[in-house]
Amino acid sequence: MAVREVLRMGDARLLAVADPVTDFGSALHDLIRDMTDTMRQLDGAGLAAPQIGVGLQVVIFEVRDNPRYPQAEPVPFTVLVNPRLEPIGEEMEEGWEGCLSVPGMRGLVPRHKALRYSGFDQYGARIERSVSGFHARVVQHETDHLFGILYPMRIRDLRHFGYADVLFPQLATRRSTATTHA
Ligand code: NI
Repeated sequence: MAVREVLRMGDARLLAVADPVTDFGSALHDLIRDMTDTMRQLDGAGLAAPQIGVGLQVVIFEVRDNPRYPQAEPVPFTVLVNPRLEPIGEEMEEGWEGCLSVPGMRGLVPRHKALRYSGFDQYGARIERSVSGFHARVVQHETDHLFGILYPMRIRDLRHFGYADVLFPQLATRRSTATTHA
C-alpha cells in the first residue's frame, strides 16, 4: 500500500496512449491498491494509471461525501480495466471538473449525458453499466486519461476555467484543505 506521486499537466507521460491490460495478476492488483490509496488520500473522484506514470488502461473512481465535489451524486467504487464507452443518445451536458493532475483548477467541460460502459474488473470479470449524470462524467474524464486527454483540452470557452478557490469560494471555506489537491 502506497500513496504515489500524481503527475501534473506538462508531463509528457500524461499525453501518451495507454496499453491494454493482458495480465490480471498480482502486479495489476498492487497497482490498483496504490491507485486507490492515492485517490482517497487526495480526495479524488477518480484516478487513471497514467497519472501515476503507469501506461496501462486502468481507471478507478468513487464518489461519496467528497469535499471536492459536495453536490455530486454518489458513485460506487469501481475498478475498470480496458474500458469501452458508447454514448447513449446525442445529448451533451456541461459540468465543472477538476483533476488531480491539474491541481487547484476547475473548468466547465461538455460530456455525453448518458452512456454505456464496459470493461473488466481487477480479476478479469466483465463489467457493463448504463449510467448518466456525474457517474457518466467521471468515466469519460478518467477514460480520456488513457488517450492522453486532459479536461482543459475539452473546455469550449476558456473563460470558464480558473482557480477552484476563486470560482467556488464556498468550497474553500467549507474545509480548509478542500482545494489543495483539487
Ligand atoms: Ni483527471
